Amino acid sequence: MKKTLKIDSLLQNLPCDDAQRLFHGRGGLYEGWEQVNIELYPPVLWVIIYQKVDETHLQQWLEGVKPHYKELGLEAIYIQRRYEQGNPVEIIIGTDAYLDTDFKVTEAGLSYWVNLGRNQNSGLFLDMSNGRQWVREHAKDKSVLNLFSYTCSLGVACAAGGANSVVNIDMAKGAIKRGQQNLALNEVACQRNTFIAQDIFKMIKKLTQKGPFDLLIADPPSFQSKAFDVRRDYEKLLTKLKPALAENAQLVLCLNSPALGESFLHELVETVFPDAAFVKRIENPAVLADINEDASLKVMLYQL
Ligand SMILES: C[S@@+](CC[C@H](N)C(=O)[O-])C[C@H]1O[C@@H](n2cnc3c(N)ncnc32)[C@H](O)[C@@H]1O
Repeated sequence: MKKTLKIDSLLQNLPCDDAQRLFHGRGGLYEGWEQVNIELYPPVLWVIIYQKVDETHLQQWLEGVKPHYKELGLEAIYIQRRYEQGNPVEIIIGTDAYLDTDFKVTEAGLSYWVNLGRNQNSGLFLDMSNGRQWVREHAKDKSVLNLFSYTCSLGVACAAGGANSVVNIDMAKGAIKRGQQNLALNEVACQRNTFIAQDIFKMIKKLTQKGPFDLLIADPPSFQSKAFDVRRDYEKLLTKLKPALAENAQLVLCLNSPALGESFLHELVETVFPDAAFVKRIENPAVLADINEDASLKVMLYQL
């Protein structure tokens, strides 16, 4: 059953220092708001509209927010329309001071660089905040392999949590560079951080030499042209990486494909690691509630 959005409640915790998703219309729970997400990258309120929709209610709400934006700790409100070519951004309030420019945000005491603009991704996936929290709390003294690291936020969280070593790998050079910058922003206990800008499949042997890893994090795209396809490649990847893992390694396996549910990961693990135990699904932040939880982001923990 769809709910009616009490949109005023979205800002009840502002001002707030931490970056976070404030509203996840994409979860499908709110009639008429299914194409809208609202994120906070202090001091910017970042509204994303995914498909062309009637914006009357959103615009009315923004009109109500405008007179109070300073009290809410905001300096700018932007709307990015993802359905238009080039993802244009409209400035609702403030200047373009935070557009297409790097600025720092915090989450749970750690800092990360973000960049809001034409890019679809800011540099920090806010839906992964509980994943970062979990690895931070469980990385102590572990050797971590962070696959598909993007800007290495999960790796930074592990380093902050006292990991013995963290290997981050992503084929996007810019993302890895940003990962190094993210690490430099933070005072972390772990001094053995490795950053590899390379296709994971080309590095399996080298990664195995860097093991054995106690904690494997894999957060692949569901489909990225030739680079990775979860249906085609996830099993192959885990099979190849098996020798890189410690005997009692923990696996944090992510899946962000609405078409594939938890069972996809369970079956995958059962095939590759028949003796592994499913521990739990690391819950998404409450704001990410979805009309179909099996379709939302899945961050699953297994124990070898
Ligand atoms: C969903 S993002 C990862 C998000 C990241 N874990 C985080 O929490 O910020 C997926 C990443 O996988 C990378 N990628 C896709 N295929 C790859 C491959 N074959 N080898 C290395 N990186 C790959 C992309 O460059 C992208 O940065």
